[in-house]
Amino acid sequence: MILPIVAYGDPVLRKAGAAIDKNYPALVKLIADMFETMEKAKGIGLAAPQIGKSIRLFVADGSPFAEGDEHPELKDFKKVFINAHIVEEQGEEWNYSEGCLSIPKIREEVKRKPTVRLKYMDENFAAHEELFSGITARIIQHECDHIDGKLFIDRINTLRRTLLKSRLADISKGNVDVEYKMKFPLKK
Ligand code: NI
Repeated sequence: MILPIVAYGDPVLRKAGAAIDKNYPALVKLIADMFETMEKAKGIGLAAPQIGKSIRLFVADGSPFAEGDEHPELKDFKKVFINAHIVEEQGEEWNYSEGCLSIPKIREEVKRKPTVRLKYMDENFAAHEELFSGITARIIQHECDHIDGKLFIDRINTLRRTLLKSRLADISKGNVDVEYKMKFPLKK
């Protein structure tokens, strides 16, 4: 089932998500719905707050990115992350142009470190601690921000953010063309 994606301005995007356990209701269905929603929207990552649930869950699928020769390492990167947190980040910060399904049509260069050590559980609640780097680290950092109530535009400079202000206000009101189903907090 395709779920509406919550747009910028909805308070759920600003709340830190709660950890979940095996008893979380209908989790298998929720994960399947999140993958379906993400694929339909042509996203590579989707976090639960973006579909209105304030929990520490996100899904990622890098395969759309792996089709060219640019990022072959993403071909098998299709994963569920539960209760994830970044233990440490390493390396010299690099710029990458990020976008977000909750903030359609806006892309901005964001600086982050290239390698992360991540603790998380998979969909079977098996615990993992793993190193990720490059684009996969980037996707994880962006999605971990979501489950902490942060957005990539928090990480750009004040001037850039000021320039985006009216476009962000338009997104909250639903004054934006999107090809996927969204829920706009200020739509009249
Ligand atoms: Ni996002």
